[in-house]
Amino acid sequence: RSVISIGIIGFGTVGTGTARLLLQNSNLIKKRTGIDFVLKKIADLDIKKDRGIKIPEGILTTDAAELINDPDIDIVVELIGGIHPAKDFILQAIRNKKHVVTANKALLATKGNEIFEEADKNGVEIGFEASVAGGIPIIKVLREGLVANNIIAVYGIINGTSNYILTKMTDEKVEFADALKEAQRLGYAEADPTFDIEGIDSAHKLTILSSLSYGIPLMYDEVYKEGITKITSQDIEFASELGYKIKLLAITKLSDGGVEMRVHPTMVPNEYLISKVDGVFNAVYVEGDAVGATMYYGRGAGDMPTGSAVVADIVDIGKKIDKRQETEGRRQTADNRQHRTEFK
Ligand code: HSE
Repeated sequence: RSVISIGIIGFGTVGTGTARLLLQNSNLIKKRTGIDFVLKKIADLDIKKDRGIKIPEGILTTDAAELINDPDIDIVVELIGGIHPAKDFILQAIRNKKHVVTANKALLATKGNEIFEEADKNGVEIGFEASVAGGIPIIKVLREGLVANNIIAVYGIINGTSNYILTKMTDEKVEFADALKEAQRLGYAEADPTFDIEGIDSAHKLTILSSLSYGIPLMYDEVYKEGITKITSQDIEFASELGYKIKLLAITKLSDGGVEMRVHPTMVPNEYLISKVDGVFNAVYVEGDAVGATMYYGRGAGDMPTGSAVVADIVDIGKKIDKRQETEGRRQTADNRQHRTEFK
């Protein structure tokens, strides 16, 4: 049946995880969907570095335009992060009628309204499951699983790096700077780690969750944010003596007719489930008016967990393309039949 061709821009941590997963599990995905997902090109400025995966000959390029303008590519996957040139690459891909998958929360939170509008105009899909909480399918939960609910509140630990740092400071008495270095080494941190430790990355992700939960535009500038840089080992110790854990929480809920959005360190009582979410793990607590309290847990950063979410979007979009082609094919067959009948 169908073949869907994919181009990845950005061969860093998440790009490598995505490529690895696509190559490694292509048979499984084909068995489940009947679709062949083919990795046709990967663009990155550095195509020499050994990423520890064997990729097919001749698919690497240093020129993203080569992939954005390739008529055979159905889905462009943007994994370079940051605003420029990611935004231009995505807009160009959309105008070329390509579907887009991105993990770029900073871009979506600040320029997403424009990007989604352009996608609507061009009739293409934007997949962004990987932009929030890494491998946890929280976007799907809000859009599909809880679609029948008014959302009462969302509380999340949605930055793996800062949670990793707080956990190391709590459990192993490691210094802040050393814990951060380790998170960077493991590929969890943003290119600019101040995004992680100042609550900016959490605020980007919260903007997306809040927009989905309350049907409001993406309003990053409205988020109150405070990071973890002022938390000392002593704060953690005192909190612990009182029966609390310090967690960087991202919170959105309805209040006084408006939507509240805030990110800040919070003392969470030890008996709350979310206080037990440690290390690079993320968790999102969502309360809906019908379902009540729900909670989602998993790895919030890293190559394979984030790759898992990217590939889920690729497969979702691939299935939609396949369905459209099938409907189109059926219509054409029906038209042909009609023609033949008319000519008889
Ligand atoms: N820097 C991010 C984090 C990566 O630590 O959660 C995943 O978005």
